[in-house]
Amino acid sequence: MLDGKRLLLIVSGGIAAYKCPDLVRRLRERGAAVRCVLTRGGAEFVTPLALGAVSEDKVYQDLFSLTDENEMGHINLSRQADALLVAPATANMMAKMCHGEADDLATTVLLATDKPVLVAPAMNVRMWEHAATQANVETLKARGITFIGPDEGDMACGEFGMGRMSEPLDIVDAVASFFRDRSRLQGRRALVTSGPTYEPIDPVRYIANRSSGKQGHAIAEALNGLGTETTLVTGPTRLPDPPGVNVVHVETARQMLAACEAALPADVAVCAAAVADWRVEAEATEKLKKSPGVGPPALVMTENPDILRALSEPGNRRPGLVVGFAAETENVVAHAQAKLDRKGCDWIVANDVSPDTGTFAGDANTVHLISHDGVEDWPRLSKKAVGTELALRIADALEAVAGNAS
Ligand code: C5P
Repeated sequence: MLDGKRLLLIVSGGIAAYKCPDLVRRLRERGAAVRCVLTRGGAEFVTPLALGAVSEDKVYQDLFSLTDENEMGHINLSRQADALLVAPATANMMAKMCHGEADDLATTVLLATDKPVLVAPAMNVRMWEHAATQANVETLKARGITFIGPDEGDMACGEFGMGRMSEPLDIVDAVASFFRDRSRLQGRRALVTSGPTYEPIDPVRYIANRSSGKQGHAIAEALNGLGTETTLVTGPTRLPDPPGVNVVHVETARQMLAACEAALPADVAVCAAAVADWRVEAEATEKLKKSPGVGPPALVMTENPDILRALSEPGNRRPGLVVGFAAETENVVAHAQAKLDRKGCDWIVANDVSPDTGTFAGDANTVHLISHDGVEDWPRLSKKAVGTELALRIADALEAVAGNAS
C-alpha cells in the first residue's frame, strides 16, 4: 500500500508517456498523492490537462515561471515529496541525471533533491543497450537510484527487445515494495565497520592494507536503505560517505574499537573492515631517520584488539546478530568455519581475496555465507548486490527473532 505517500512523478519525452495518466490513477488507487512535472519532450506525448485531471493537482512544467516559483518553487517540489519517480525515463534524461545537468524544471528538481529517486526507463532496445546508456545506468545505481524495469517486448518503433517501460501496475508494485523495504528495519540500529586501518610507525609512516572499503560501505548503505539507524565506522578510504548514514572516520584499530563501542547498543553489527592484526608496539614520536652505518629499524609488533571478537562477547551489550568477514587466499570455507567459532560471531561472510580474483580493489565479490546452520555459496555479484542481499538476510533474521519473541 502507498497510503499517505507523496510522489513527484517526472514525465520525460518518450512514447511510453502515454501510459502516465493510467500510472497516476493506479498510484492514487493505492493511496499515494501524485504531483506531476512534465518536460517539454513529455508534453509532446501527454498533455498537462490529462495529467492534471488524473492527479487532481497542478502540473509543473516551467523552471522560469514566476507564478509557479511563487506558488511552489522547484526546491519545494522535492521537499514536499517522499520520493521522486521518473517515468518514462528516456536515455537523454538518464544522461542528464548522470552529469548533473539542470537545464529545465525536471532536471533541476532531480539535482536539487535529497529524496530517494526511482526511474522507469523507456527507450529503443539499441539505445538501452548502448555502452553510454549502460554506463549511465551503472553510475545512477551506484548513486543509490532504484531502477524499475525496463521490460522486454514489442516496441512502438516496431522492434522487439529490452527497453519497454514497465507496465503501470508493475511500477506501482515496485514503488510499494520500495517503501515497504525502506521501513522494514525501522527502529533498529546497525553498526558496520569498513576499510583498512592505518597503524602508525612514526608521525609520517604507517602500516596499512589494500582494503578499499567498497564492501563495507555497500552493506551500510543497504542496511540504511531498509530503515536502520546505521553507524559506519570506517578506516581511511577514497569513498564518499553513504548518504543518510552516520559515518565515524578513524585510522587505527584501537580508534575503531572505541568508535564501535560508542555506537552500541545495536541490533546488528557487521565487521567488514580489514583491521590490522598487529601494530607497532612503541610508535616513534619523531620521524625515524636513516643514519650512515646504522641498519633499518627493527619494528616490534604487538597485537591489536579484535573488534569482531569483542562485539561477539556474550553480555547485554552484544548485538543480537554479529557478522564477520573472512578474507582468505586458500581453503576459504574451512578457514572461515574455524573463524566462526574462534570469534564467537553468528555469521561469517567468506571471500577469496587472492590477487587473481581482483576482489580487493574491484567491484565484484564471490562470497560464501557461513552460519551454524551451514554454508551457502553465492554467485559472483557486485559488491553493491552482496550488500543488498546481506542486508535482506539480516532483515529476515532480525524479523524471525522478533517473531519468535512475540
Ligand atoms: O582474524 P581475521 O582478521 O582473519 O578476521 C576477520 C574478521 O575479523 C573481519 O570481520 C574483521 O573485520 C574482523 N577483525 C576485527 N578486528 C581485528 C581483526 C579482525 O574486527 N583486529
